[in-house]
Amino acid sequence: MEVWDAIRRRRSIRKYKSQPVGEELVQKILEAGRWAPSASNMQMWGTREFVVVKDAKIMEIIRKVSPGCPKTAPLAIFACSNRKRAYEKCGKFARDYLTTVDCAMAVENMLLMAHSLGLGACTVKSFSSVAVKQILEIPENVEPELMVTIGYPDEKPAPPPKIALEKITYLDRYGDKLFKKG
Ligand SMILES: Cc1cc2nc3c(=O)[nH]c(=O)nc-3n(C[C@H](O)[C@H](O)[C@H](O)COP(=O)(O)O)c2cc1C
Repeated sequence: MEVWDAIRRRRSIRKYKSQPVGEELVQKILEAGRWAPSASNMQMWGTREFVVVKDAKIMEIIRKVSPGCPKTAPLAIFACSNRKRAYEKCGKFARDYLTTVDCAMAVENMLLMAHSLGLGACTVKSFSSVAVKQILEIPENVEPELMVTIGYPDEKPAPPPKIALEKITYLDRYGDKLFKKG
């Protein structure tokens, strides 16, 4: 699949079939996350970690503490930042900001990979971090930043509106339009 096609046609999928996602596909999605950029290549020290949730009973409990989690998702991957390691290796800014950005980078890669494999996925931030940490036994210094739900799509949502490039793009100076009419 062409990169542009993947970017353009990916949608947040919130309805899934019950069909389980094969091990090999999960592995590919995780690899896509692993290969995402990270500040100073910080991931090298294990500052970005993934927790895969496959167990149906655990998924059910996660759903109860995650108002934004699609109801039928058979599987989820939590992109977590290991803030302790980030601080030890790169300091406060890395702990408080860069690790979170690194997780977002990994999530976008995983969304695109899932889409290219014929799967549906959705980023979810609406979950109780405290509860998720307890359920998944995530240590104090590790933060679940984003959840990605994954499964075979059972819906084909229309693309949501996206703001016109002209309205958000400037040239050389903020406010000077890059795209001028006429
Ligand atoms: C940081 C972030 C948090 C999100 N959290 C949720 C969420 O909790 N629940 C949900 O259903 N979708 C969530 N989404 C998905 C967005 O609603 C979705 O990306 C947006 O509506 C655009 O749709 P599209 O992904 O199909 O282009 C989140 C997306 C991002 C980037």
